Amino acid sequence: MLKILFAPLQGYTTGIYRKAHAEIFGGVNAYYAPFLRIENGKPREKDLRDLECANADCANAKCADIAEGNARDLNAREIPQIIANSVDEFKILADALIAKGYTEIDFNMGCPFPMQVNRHRGAGLLNDAPTVQKIMDEIAKLSSATNETAPANAKKTAPIKFSVKMRLGQESPDEAFALLPILNETPLTQITLHPRLGKQQYKGAIDFKSFEKFYEECRHPLIYNGDITSVSQICEMERRYPKLAGVMIGRGMLAKPSLAAEYKALCSNEESSSAETRNINGAATPLNFFDKLLQMHQVIFDNACKTFQGDSQILSHVQSFWEYLEPSVPKKIFKRLKKAGKLSEYQEVIIEMRGSRE
Ligand SMILES: Cc1cc2nc3c(=O)[nH]c(=O)nc-3n(C[C@H](O)[C@H](O)[C@H](O)COP(=O)(O)O)c2cc1C
Repeated sequence: MLKILFAPLQGYTTGIYRKAHAEIFGGVNAYYAPFLRIENGKPREKDLRDLECANADCANAKCADIAEGNARDLNAREIPQIIANSVDEFKILADALIAKGYTEIDFNMGCPFPMQVNRHRGAGLLNDAPTVQKIMDEIAKLSSATNETAPANAKKTAPIKFSVKMRLGQESPDEAFALLPILNETPLTQITLHPRLGKQQYKGAIDFKSFEKFYEECRHPLIYNGDITSVSQICEMERRYPKLAGVMIGRGMLAKPSLAAEYKALCSNEESSSAETRNINGAATPLNFFDKLLQMHQVIFDNACKTFQGDSQILSHVQSFWEYLEPSVPKKIFKRLKKAGKLSEYQEVIIEMRGSRE
């Protein structure tokens, strides 16, 4: 069975979203938080707050569990991610997360947004082997069981685990292959590869030929990421790439939050798979998918109201939940959800949608 990882998506998979998904749909082995970046020389406060949202005032016990890395729901873990253009930025961000108690951190070398690429971050780092080498040296330092030689009374630091999420390159796949020997020598838990170039952003053909070469040459557990939207595609990846450690899914999971649970249910229950049985096992079936969506929305809505103030902040949080769900919502309702400028208008539409289910 492949590991199913929920990809980070800035503006969508917020802390509130991640907790609600784990509670209502689940099936995910780990949730990757959108990147933490430097702002005015410091870790960006808004990103740090998002990581903390589970602990502070969320009344939901499961949220706290996930933050501690031991959620009841299929051992789902929450892994923070950082984006940096130098070893100095990297250290500031990694230190901030380590100080918060995180012991596993993902490093972003794939973001294609011009704001980041032009600042030499994300995919903009892929053609700079010397800087990547320095960052990987820092990772090696932080990953080793550090102060074994320190005096017996010195405080022991736990080794930190690192992974990398990357593309094939900004301009050419040669960039990833030039970096691979450096990455192979670094103690990483896994590499997630999105086999596109930064200049393609999230569209255009996926380069499976280069993915296969990377798959053969990569010495770390490899995770595939890109355009997965169905259980059959996950099974096909498993069949085609037997050494694959997992798949990371982003937009496909936003559009179908039951995807991971459906795959897990299929794997654990191949032969006796009546819709009702799968239901008991926690996976969403066509029968209850929409009701679960409404439940997940309610959890997000309630937590957004507790966390944010003012209609516009709350609305931007809850409206983004529906964005990739357009095919699952009646057209007219979808339009009104997106257009609502006041919380009261938005709630009216939700009540109507609920009513239509009863
Ligand atoms: C709006 C948006 C925001 C994203 N934010 C991040 C991010 O913070 N960190 C990251 O590593 N990838 C980010 N990604 C990339 C996704 O994690 C993922 O790699 C990409 O969507 C391809 O996977 P998918 O086809 O399964 O969606 C973002 C993508 C989108 C569309």
